[in-house]
Amino acid sequence: MAHKAVVIAIVNQKGGVAKTTTSISLGHGLALEGKRTLLIDFDPQGNLTVYLGLRQEPCIYDWLTYRLTPAGAGKNMTVDHMRQWIRMSNRENLFVFPGINGPKMLKII
Ligand SMILES: Nc1ncnc2c1ncn2[C@@H]1O[C@H](COP(=O)(O)OP(=O)(O)OP(=O)(O)O)[C@@H](O)[C@H]1O
Ligand SMILES: [Mg+2]
Repeated sequence: MAHKAVVIAIVNQKGGVAKTTTSISLGHGLALEGKRTLLIDFDPQGNLTVYLGLRQEPCIYDWLTYRLTPAGAGKNMTVDHMRQWIRMSNRENLFVFPGINGPKMLKII
């Protein structure tokens, strides 16, 4: 039976209002309930990735710009392409698409 994915975006323009804390806590809670959860770190500081102790590269920036690279030129993005950037979090059911801190991300946001 096909499972429906639910997308939850945690967004607020104001700084320091617990976006990252909520993302990690909610993601971890869902994973503990047995739901396969993918945390996608669109934070231009890549804080979620750092908080989870993961290295930041390769990251979401590489996915967003894949078609501009020689390897990805002219290719359509497929689920398999996306999978190469998704990382295990070392916690059951919890996966991470890392983000990065710095000018690379700010350039495309
Ligand atoms: N429920 C809470 N009670 C007390 N402190 C909290 C709570 N949630 C988060 N904090 C603290 O508030 C601060 C800001 O949280 P967090 O980094 O998650 O915010 P943010 O919105 O992601 O910030 P930024 O805009 O800088 O990315 C952190 O020091 C965090 O530990
Ligand atoms: Mg944050």
